[in-house]
Amino acid sequence: MTKSIKFGVYVPGDLARELEELSKQLGITSRSKIIQEALQLFISEHKWRIEGRVVGVIMIIYNHDVGNVDEKLTDIQHKYIEEIISSLHVHLSKDKCLQVIVVKGDSSKIRNFVNELMNVKGVLAVRTSLLGEPV
Ligand code: NI
Repeated sequence: MTKSIKFGVYVPGDLARELEELSKQLGITSRSKIIQEALQLFISEHKWRIEGRVVGVIMIIYNHDVGNVDEKLTDIQHKYIEEIISSLHVHLSKDKCLQVIVVKGDSSKIRNFVNELMNVKGVLAVRTSLLGEPV
C-alpha cells in the first residue's frame, strides 16, 4: 500500500445526496472508501483503451433486413478470429438481432474490431464491457 494523498473534488448537489443516501443504505460510512472504489472502477473501465490486454464482451444490436449486414458482420468477425473466444446470436424480433461476442486480446486490436462493427450499416448499437486482463 502506497502513502495516501488527499484531494478535494466538487460534485453536483444531487449526485452527492444520491451517493449519501445509497451509502447509508449499504452501510458504508467512509466517503474515502467510496471514492477509492469509484476510482478503481473507472480505471479498470477505461485503462484498456490505452494499452495492454483486455477481456470482456461486445454486444451488437442490428437490423438484419438492412443490406447484407449479416455477411459484413461475419466477415469482420472472421478477421478477428484470434481475439474471439465465443459468440452468441439471439433473434430479438422479426428483424432485430443481438450478437454477443466474448473477446480477449490486445486493446488496440479490440478497439479496431469495435470500430469496424460500429461502421456497418444496419448496426443500431454497439456496447462494450471490457476490462484489463487480470495477470
Ligand atoms: Ni437473428
